[in-house]
Amino acid sequence: MSDIPQERRVLTAIPGPKSVELQARRTAAVAAGVGSTLPVFAARAGGGIIEDVDGNRLIDFGSGIAVTSVGASAEAVVRRASAQLADFTHTCFMVTPYEGYVEVCERLAELTPGDHAKKSALFNSGAEAVENAVKIARAYTKRTAVVVFDHGYHGRTNLTMALTAKNMPYKQGFGPFAPEVYRVPVAYGYRWPTGAENAGAEASAQAIDEITKQIGAQNVAAIIIEPVLGEGGFIEPAKGFLPEIARFAKDNGIVFVADEIQSGFCRTGQWFACEDEGIVPDLITTAKGIAGGLPLSAVTGRAEIMDAAHSGGLGGTYGGNPVACAGALGAIETMIELDLNGKARRIEEVMKGRLGEMRAKLPNGGVIGDIRGRGAMIAIELVKSGTKEPDAAATAALAKACHAEGLLVLTCGTYGNVLRFLPPLVIGEDLLDEGLDILEQAFATL
Ligand SMILES: Cc1ncc(COP(=O)(O)O)c(C=O)c1O
Repeated sequence: MSDIPQERRVLTAIPGPKSVELQARRTAAVAAGVGSTLPVFAARAGGGIIEDVDGNRLIDFGSGIAVTSVGASAEAVVRRASAQLADFTHTCFMVTPYEGYVEVCERLAELTPGDHAKKSALFNSGAEAVENAVKIARAYTKRTAVVVFDHGYHGRTNLTMALTAKNMPYKQGFGPFAPEVYRVPVAYGYRWPTGAENAGAEASAQAIDEITKQIGAQNVAAIIIEPVLGEGGFIEPAKGFLPEIARFAKDNGIVFVADEIQSGFCRTGQWFACEDEGIVPDLITTAKGIAGGLPLSAVTGRAEIMDAAHSGGLGGTYGGNPVACAGALGAIETMIELDLNGKARRIEEVMKGRLGEMRAKLPNGGVIGDIRGRGAMIAIELVKSGTKEPDAAATAALAKACHAEGLLVLTCGTYGNVLRFLPPLVIGEDLLDEGLDILEQAFATL
């Protein structure tokens, strides 16, 4: 890990003068469509800290959107990736293969749920993995329809925009979208009309009814779901929902795909979030946390499904780049050595404890409508006090107040009213506590 002191330090206004200058250059040179959470420019990062170009040290509750679970400069990632860089940067695995790619696929077969024969294919981004999962499922089933869920997020390419639920900002103006994509309800407990306790059974029955009546199960190639929905608002489908959908898929020869791009690799205190309800997906898509910050993604699944695509049908120039594969092997080594599943579960304990206390101090819970998530994938859903009406303005104000004090937090949710916490799993408990102190103080600014 880089030797950045693991201490928050606020030396200037945030953003500071050097960041402001860089932001002006960014505005002139970078396309406006590339968004910006906080215009602070990074100089170095590691552990639970991001140091900016003005020397400020921010507490990181974002991990570059759930990527740097092992930290942004983990020793094993840097060591292995640097050694690989010196040996060779690229050959293209399809032209001249190398061991690192094969080893990552072997590790994926061991770590993902189920003890059946598995194979993998590697790509660069999460969206690319999801696109390839659809290709593989279609090749295997010889069917075309793909079922996704309300509040789902799967990426920004044409097919994954179609799979994604939310219009603004992901889809607006970018159609037409890929055909044969169908969206059905998900068991969003907090907002389920008849109450969270009924959500699992009712939502799965509704989803299955819609699939059967509107698409025909025999036409469905794949059902794709995030076991904890990420961008949609850290929604944990109510208990019973995922097993019922997985059972329906199995009974009807549909490929069940768990999109664990955000929830995978120790993030929720398990290697994969679907393990919590004993789900064994046919295919699983991974990215983000897999490689300690280097761009890598994968589709892993039942060997007979993975082998359905003809030779040359899958791949890409850079997919499974050797430096990214070396990074992944370093990240996995770190996750095992430091027991990052245990660390994630401890983060949940600390965060949920503190968030519960904050809520208890506010009259009727105040703006904190719901506290949810697992491991180091925790969120609060903010509402107008005493109602369930989403409060996006309070969410933005809280995020802004945290940023000003040197705590990097992210927002999400279909209604823009979810504050999400995704600290690196290696964050020190003192920084975690300090970050939560800042959040608590931020409520006073509302
Ligand atoms: C569940 C899920 N699927 C797919 C993606 C897309 O990944 P990428 O941004 O690497 O294309 C994301 C990204 O946030 C995600 O959270």
